Amino acid sequence: MIPRSNILAQLATILVALGLVHAVPPVRRFNQASGIQKPESTINHVTNTGTLLTSLEMAGYVTSLPFVTSTATSPFPKLKTPLPEAAPQVSQKVPLALTTSIHEIAVDPFKPVATGAAPSQFTTRNQHPVPRLNIQQQSSPLQTNKFYANFYLGDQSFGSFVHPYGLTWSKGGGPMSSWGMAIDHIDYNEKVYGPTEKTLPGQPVQYIINPVGIQDLVLSAAELGSGTTLQTSKLDTFSVNAILSPSNVSNTASITFPMVQGMGFVTAVYKNLTPWIETGHAILSVTPKPFADKSIFKYSVALNNGNTWLVYATPSIQQDPKFTLSSLGSITGPAGFSGVIQIAKISSDKSSEALYDASAGVYATSAALTGNVASTNGSYTITWTKAGATCKPLTMWALPHHVKSLSNSGIKIYRNITLTTTTKGNATAVVGDAWTLVETNLPTSMGFAPWDPDSKMSNTNFPSSVIAKISTAAISELSEDISAQSNLNSMYYSGKALAKFASIIYVAKDILKNDTLVTQGLTKLEKAFSLFSTNQQQFPLVYDNAWGGLVSSAGYINNALLADFGNTAYNDHHFHYSYFIYTAAVIGYLDPKWLNANKDWVNSLVRDASNPSKLDNVYPVFRMFDWYHGHSWAHGLFPAGDSKDEESSSEDTNFAYALKMWGHVIGDSSMEARGNLMLSVLARSLQSYFLYEDDNDVMPPQFIGNKVSGILFENKIDHTTYFGSALEYIQGIHMLPILPHSALIRTRKFVQEEWERFFAEGAVDPASKVQGGWRGILYANLALYDPATSYAFFSQPNFNASYLDGGASLTWYLAYAAGRGGTAPSGCSHV
Ligand SMILES: *[C@@H]1O[C@H](CO)[C@@H](O)[C@H](O)[C@H]1NC(C)=O
Ligand SMILES: *[C@@H]1O[C@H](CO)[C@@H](O)[C@H](O)[C@H]1NC(C)=O
Ligand SMILES: *[C@@H]1O[C@H](CO)[C@@H](O)[C@H](O)[C@H]1NC(C)=O
Ligand SMILES: *[C@@H]1O[C@H](CO)[C@@H](O)[C@H](O)[C@H]1NC(C)=O
Ligand SMILES: *[C@@H]1O[C@H](CO)[C@@H](O)[C@H](O)[C@H]1NC(C)=O
Ligand SMILES: *[C@@H]1O[C@H](CO)[C@@H](O)[C@H](O)[C@H]1NC(C)=O
Repeated sequence: MIPRSNILAQLATILVALGLVHAVPPVRRFNQASGIQKPESTINHVTNTGTLLTSLEMAGYVTSLPFVTSTATSPFPKLKTPLPEAAPQVSQKVPLALTTSIHEIAVDPFKPVATGAAPSQFTTRNQHPVPRLNIQQQSSPLQTNKFYANFYLGDQSFGSFVHPYGLTWSKGGGPMSSWGMAIDHIDYNEKVYGPTEKTLPGQPVQYIINPVGIQDLVLSAAELGSGTTLQTSKLDTFSVNAILSPSNVSNTASITFPMVQGMGFVTAVYKNLTPWIETGHAILSVTPKPFADKSIFKYSVALNNGNTWLVYATPSIQQDPKFTLSSLGSITGPAGFSGVIQIAKISSDKSSEALYDASAGVYATSAALTGNVASTNGSYTITWTKAGATCKPLTMWALPHHVKSLSNSGIKIYRNITLTTTTKGNATAVVGDAWTLVETNLPTSMGFAPWDPDSKMSNTNFPSSVIAKISTAAISELSEDISAQSNLNSMYYSGKALAKFASIIYVAKDILKNDTLVTQGLTKLEKAFSLFSTNQQQFPLVYDNAWGGLVSSAGYINNALLADFGNTAYNDHHFHYSYFIYTAAVIGYLDPKWLNANKDWVNSLVRDASNPSKLDNVYPVFRMFDWYHGHSWAHGLFPAGDSKDEESSSEDTNFAYALKMWGHVIGDSSMEARGNLMLSVLARSLQSYFLYEDDNDVMPPQFIGNKVSGILFENKIDHTTYFGSALEYIQGIHMLPILPHSALIRTRKFVQEEWERFFAEGAVDPASKVQGGWRGILYANLALYDPATSYAFFSQPNFNASYLDGGASLTWYLAYAAGRGGTAPSGCSHV
């Protein structure tokens, strides 16, 4: 049963040992069984270091600022009430109204929001500007923002990252001119930090990039050539099938790659093809290894970069496939092979081999998500569907935030067996068919008021002088023209304006307790909102029947897919819609009779961005939020060299917060529980990967000094933004909007460290240094750790309204700083 030893492999070893490998001409490969010949590779296998995608253009777009700083229609009047020297501390902490909603009984957080068709105000369009390239028909809506989207976008040549492995269709390119599926795993010491010429000693690097195109191993077949097609099928929340076929008419021969996030092996299901396993390095040896399970044939493949990979073949007819080294760059199997080939890389802990052995033959094909929330306890369970040798346990890779929240029941965590991921720290091997991840501190008490995660309290009772100050601001700001500020050509900017007024009216109600003012404001806000809920805004939303979602009609005009930040191509839906959902939650809280006529419209936005259930077949399940990564991907239907990305952790959080508040207001306890669970998961994930305290134990130390990721891609982290590289943009886009959820995600320690590193001691002052709305954002964020200075800034007598962006108000910032404790006498004004 043991395949014969391989003379070529030994020869290669000797040549490399002698340093002769450069002198060896590429070996002409000729497969006798099929007579198929492949072009020679002229690339030197030994020096292949991959390509660096350093440009943001690789992501397909560059956008505008997140706000227009001058949307205010009336200049803000000077405030008349100066800040008292030391405000008397009469504020008292009150438990939140939300305590009434805590669910002691367990709630399923993944119940459908609704299942009916999109409401009648939305026109349906059957055509979408982005073609559904080689996607096989499926009965459920297509996913647009998942890790595998590059496989149906553009020319299909960019990679998909399952972590820790990345898969890329070689498409006739690469070192071997292969037509197979390339597997890449970048070691920790192969990451590229830069730019080297601009990084000063002791300063953090601007970016971390993982080279692409190295092609550690390529799973291919002799029959794959220029007619090869890549198709996808079963586009799902955690998984997809990628299918390579020699031509698009034949379905008798193919390689199917069941791709699942965190998969332990790269698995290829061959149907009637001649396996070729290729590499962009050089293969030193292919060694058959004895294997207890006689249905599996195991090989150890040593590459000239020092890494060893394992190949497990499970032929459908139990017969030794006799994989042999046919050149420095490839291994050949038998013609007409059907069966499973699995690949895994030996990690620095050699015991990984025994772990792989135990799980060889079984693989995940998809995953189901279930959950349970009771009071402040929540959990979610990812259960994999298995195929192959299903009696065996599954090995999967867990990200650092999983390891910190995994329940031990039914699984075993192998803490020493790790492989580094591209941008999420080191992955850890976990054996088990289902993971339950536990969050025990859900922010159930967080409501509309400024909130503190330690005390779980909200503070809405302020001294009369503070009330007077906020009241002056609120009366002035609510005299502005809400419709004019929100009737814009962008869902993003419109939503931000509406949400701004919603927070002011909330303050008028629960803090100022001025019902006259509430009524005045609410009347105008409801009117402005109705432009959208009747779908009469400048670019109405349409139900896109091609992909299954609610998109702006702006991008249909002249294929202007980048209009409104790419909304039509499914960019940023959670950002855009979060502001409308939050606004609706405030309106519904203040005016419950408004809900009846508006609930379906708001729920449509919820369902588009975040449908929790397969029972709702109008939208894909969790378009934006990724339950493997613990955060959303903003990037929609644009091919991108570094795959999916997200630029604003805070607007991601804003969606979960809006969901929670809307669920609370409409009495959808499943939705409210889901929002709370997502907030806790986001806190854990973002604090690992996006927002770095100095003692962050996940990310490379060279990067932590940036404090925030900037744009986090699947394959790159770049401390920048799509709209400019000013420091206040990069840090600030992870702050806005400052709302009650900010304190949960952005810890006091983190905010203090970030402030002291970048903004303290004159770095923001004088005003010339940070201008416009960014100045307000920085000072509102300061309320998370130094609320007194924040309050003093916003309450200064000659406050300049140019420091408020189009989504920000003095009313809310004053209330927020005061609610965080900014008017206590101990923290007196610095201004
Ligand atoms: C299959 O090939 C034909 C002709 O070469 C082409 O017109 C068609 O678009 C291809 N279909 C797919 C799914 O690639
Ligand atoms: C929450 O979990 C803790 C322990 O983890 C337990 O003591 C408590 O009873 C749980 N609460 C609910 C409401 O289930
Ligand atoms: C894990 O690694 C540590 C440090 O190398 C070692 O001391 C320990 O024995 C290892 N544990 C296992 C279970 O292999
Ligand atoms: C309440 O707001 C109205 C403006 O709508 C204002 O005229 C009135 O003075 C406010 N009342 C208090 C007590 O501040
Ligand atoms: C990740 O693994 C590499 C070795 O592969 C190690 O050097 C690095 O310190 C690890 N990082 C963390 C955060 O453990
Ligand atoms: C407010 O700030 C802007 C920009 O810094 C400045 O141009 C303007 O003169 C200021 N307005 C007042 C009233 O100080």
